[in-house]
Amino acid sequence: MISQPFIHLATLLFLLSSSFAFPNYADVLKRQEVEDANSPFPPVNPPLPPGPPEFTGAKLVNDPAHPWEPLRDGDVRGPCPGMNTLASHGYMSRDGVASPSEMVTAVQEGLNMENKFAIFVTYLNHLMNGNLVTDLLSIGGKTSKTGPDPPAPAHAGGLSVHGTFEGDAGMTRGDAFFGDNHSFNQTLFDKFIDFSNRFGGGFYNLTVAGELRFQRLQDSIATNPQFSFKNVRFITSYGESVFPVNFFVDGRQTEKKLDMESARLFFSDMKFPADFFRAPMPMSNEGLSEIFQMHPFLPGGNVDGKVDNFVVDPASATFDTPSCVLYEDILNTVKGLYPNPTGVLKRNLIKNLRFFYDGFSAVFSDGCAEQFPYGQQ
Ligand SMILES: *[C@@H]1O[C@H](CO)[C@@H](O)[C@H](O)[C@H]1NC(C)=O
Ligand SMILES: *[C@@H]1O[C@H](CO)[C@@H](O)[C@H](O)[C@H]1NC(C)=O
Ligand SMILES: *[C@@H]1O[C@H](CO)[C@@H](O)[C@H](O)[C@H]1NC(C)=O
Repeated sequence: MISQPFIHLATLLFLLSSSFAFPNYADVLKRQEVEDANSPFPPVNPPLPPGPPEFTGAKLVNDPAHPWEPLRDGDVRGPCPGMNTLASHGYMSRDGVASPSEMVTAVQEGLNMENKFAIFVTYLNHLMNGNLVTDLLSIGGKTSKTGPDPPAPAHAGGLSVHGTFEGDAGMTRGDAFFGDNHSFNQTLFDKFIDFSNRFGGGFYNLTVAGELRFQRLQDSIATNPQFSFKNVRFITSYGESVFPVNFFVDGRQTEKKLDMESARLFFSDMKFPADFFRAPMPMSNEGLSEIFQMHPFLPGGNVDGKVDNFVVDPASATFDTPSCVLYEDILNTVKGLYPNPTGVLKRNLIKNLRFFYDGFSAVFSDGCAEQFPYGQQ
């Protein structure tokens, strides 16, 4: 079962509207208060997350202003085909390092991601894997381009860090246990195609998403002695499964099914199909409850370092628990990364937690109260 608040998420999101115009990247930069102009990595006072864009319909996004370009030395890419594609088309910095506000603008503009949902996922990633002092996050692995390291155990490791966005049982990326947790994996993509042929008539649709999600969980249980699937990763993995249907299908198409040619372009080449139109309305995780209900699954992991030894974790958040269970888990992770912040770091932590809660409480609308582990401003 999935809690009612979550099921109604999609409907609620469509009702959200706003008169904000989305700022472009230059405006965002201008608004950032640069605090030490002489440092190559000045501490940044993070701006408010962007509001929704004025126009939220379908439009050509593979346009002359956003040409695909091949990777240059030093450009980083990671586990998320959507972010990779946006960077390769210049919707965000092509080097794969940007501020969370720039990333929210990019996913809204290039993929029509719903504003509060975009804020929720982006600031979650930033709190876990970003550099909170320089306000920079890598869409791939760790890079010096996000600035000097924060005090350990924080790591500013980027989206490739295992267990938050990136995680086990991914669709086209291997489990971290097997070494490479972020590169496109042809064997796994062949499985994606095979399932699309078997359950979707050659296309990836929600039926395929539900079957492949379940199969990937069985694969990991059977082969990965360190398989872990709980809390944030449990929730985001189902999002990952519906994203291709919601974001990679041309916005002029009425049937929500992704052809294999387009899938390969996004997953492997980080490229929009020629003449690609983004979704016709702001999207988030529509279809999630349908695919979950095809094969309901409880969070947990393989224990004692053994395969085929899956044990349910009753403490983990599920779609059925109050959203506060997930919120507590996220706050505990943040507090573990930042036990004793001071100065700019502390101020930026407080701000980023505030921005994150703004998205979280809109996405999970069952009324979990905001907490202030580092105080309020
Ligand atoms: C995931 O991949 C990145 C980049 O290769 C690597 O730095 C990181 O250690 C990996 N994470 C795990 C848990 O293996
Ligand atoms: C791709 O994934 C398969 C299945 O998990 C794995 O056996 C293989 O080693 C991976 N290939 C690479 C190049 O990582
Ligand atoms: C996916 O495609 C298959 C094959 O055409 C079809 O039977 C199934 O109903 C589709 N699923 C959805 C959710 O549209």
